[in-house]
Amino acid sequence: MPLYTPESLELLRQRIDLVEVLSSHIELKKTGAFYKALCPFHDEKTASFGVQKGDSHYHCFGCGAHGDAIQFLISFLRMSFAEAVETLAEKFHVHLEHVEQVDAPKGPSKILLREVLETACQFYHFFLLNTEEGHQALSYLHERGLDLEFVHQFQIGLAPNAPAMLYKVLEAKGYKLEIAEAAGLTAQYAERGIRDFFHDRITFPIRDVAGSVIGFSARKYKELTQGGKYVNTPETPLFKKSKILFGLNYCRKRITKEKFALIVEGQIDALRLIQCGYNFTVAGQGTAFGEAHAHELLQLGVNRLFLALDGDLAGREAAVKIGNIFQRFGSEVHIVQMPDGSDPDGFLKAEGSEKFLQLLTQSQDYLTFLVHHLSQKESTQSPAEKNRLIESIANQIRSWDHPVMVHESLQKLAHLTQTPRELIDASQTYTPNVYIKKSSIGGMQSVDHDRVIESDLIRLLLMLGGQIPDLVRLAQLNVKVNLFKIPVCKQIYEIYLDRHAKALSTDLLSLAVEAKNPDAQELLASLFNKKVNKERALQHLQEAVRKILDREWMGRREEVRMKISKEGHSEQELALLLKEFEELKRTPPTIVYPSPLRNSNGI
Ligand code: CTP
Ligand code: MN
Repeated sequence: MPLYTPESLELLRQRIDLVEVLSSHIELKKTGAFYKALCPFHDEKTASFGVQKGDSHYHCFGCGAHGDAIQFLISFLRMSFAEAVETLAEKFHVHLEHVEQVDAPKGPSKILLREVLETACQFYHFFLLNTEEGHQALSYLHERGLDLEFVHQFQIGLAPNAPAMLYKVLEAKGYKLEIAEAAGLTAQYAERGIRDFFHDRITFPIRDVAGSVIGFSARKYKELTQGGKYVNTPETPLFKKSKILFGLNYCRKRITKEKFALIVEGQIDALRLIQCGYNFTVAGQGTAFGEAHAHELLQLGVNRLFLALDGDLAGREAAVKIGNIFQRFGSEVHIVQMPDGSDPDGFLKAEGSEKFLQLLTQSQDYLTFLVHHLSQKESTQSPAEKNRLIESIANQIRSWDHPVMVHESLQKLAHLTQTPRELIDASQTYTPNVYIKKSSIGGMQSVDHDRVIESDLIRLLLMLGGQIPDLVRLAQLNVKVNLFKIPVCKQIYEIYLDRHAKALSTDLLSLAVEAKNPDAQELLASLFNKKVNKERALQHLQEAVRKILDREWMGRREEVRMKISKEGHSEQELALLLKEFEELKRTPPTIVYPSPLRNSNGI
């Protein structure tokens, strides 16, 4: 994660206009100095979400959602802390200075890369619409049923059939070669000099969640053009293929709201569907759809997936694999049965949007599809073949993460294959231990329990302390700063209490600015990995406080125990130590409640 200097964060904090940020994502209505909206964080019919003009925090009186601009981008668009900071810096024209890091990647800043990519996108789009070559490409698009509205909406463009026309344009605008190269727009060759990366291809811009262009996918439109059907931007600091979900920037809002998504193979499929109103469609782009892609959707809270992959064997095989990833993580997968030889784009052109809706509503649940697909692939005539089939599906099911889902799915498998459930269980060839958490998405991570406990406490204070003063009082009374073990948590806790006491703002940026410590930015960013529950905040804070007190108490006992176990004590010393130990054992820590606050059980 890039780390920024406190000075530039402070400048950003001063420049952010929350109303402006909110109004690019939700519809705000002005009444006097107050702006109101339907809360984007819960379903409601009358507006209880709002912000006071000039205030740096929004608040929802319905569900208690509360935060600043950064928190909004993190909660609503699920951006990371760094993404949110960079997006705001771009919006409010603040140049973010990076803290010098020894291992910081060298090269142009991401802001510059985004800028040059946006310029290239505009150039390609202009070139498509205004040149002779462009007309030929437009007629190709037209033949494919992609009209001008489509071209405008998605800023489709054309890379000219010339060695370095884009580069010349960029150069004239003052961009250095290293920037164009780092953005994946040009390449330099010993014999041929500087050349554009894309030639003679229709360009589809690929955007990140904030809508800025991070790369292109370029399709040839003439048979004779060299190379594959599509050429994509190479890996750059912005363009990470394993994660990119084409279309997500258009669909994130709907997907986050509805918690379902439609996955297709090609970007044209995605764009066509989005244009037809299926604005919850994404395509894994250019590379096979893998766990990192799934993670992007799962972290939006998606729990239902529709897969509309091409109607061929490769598409069905991909559905088996992609479906399994999501089922494994507990999401429900449905397979849209595309007719043989068609893909969504072709289907929409031939049959129209209504028919596609029919396909979508008739989609098959994953298990039914799997049984059907595998029994078509392999014969199930003989008992041995049927046995193998069931065993392999049952094993696949047993590798899923959620015990109830495994149980129900095995039940269903029995039903689908007309096999008694006991026999399926009997065929079990291995026993996975469901109590051992399988590697979470993105691989195993070692957990630092001290950091988790301390972060939990800080998270509650930071997110809800402003609204529930008792949280701060309870923490202050019980948890002295020196009880923290993780230096960066200790620092943030100290700063938080200090700013709170002085009635200074305690939002993320203020804390990050004051901490002047790169680790602090990382900690603050990580706080958003977990949600807070306002109703149970006090109880959760008590739990965090209790854990910190217990930890300290156990630590002291352990110290005495270690002393006792060492040799060389006189009898008197030993008696004293034993007494101390017993004394400690008898006096576990108790939480002190500020009056009139009582503990959450009302006692
Ligand atoms: N793809 C790629 N390079 C290729 C072929 C395909 O990167 N040489 C990627 C593209 O993202 C493409 C997706 O794989 O959208 C699916 O490929 P395919 O089904 O062959 O293409 P379509 O999306 O159907 O493209 P079109 O309709 O333009 O033929
Ligand atoms: Mn196609």
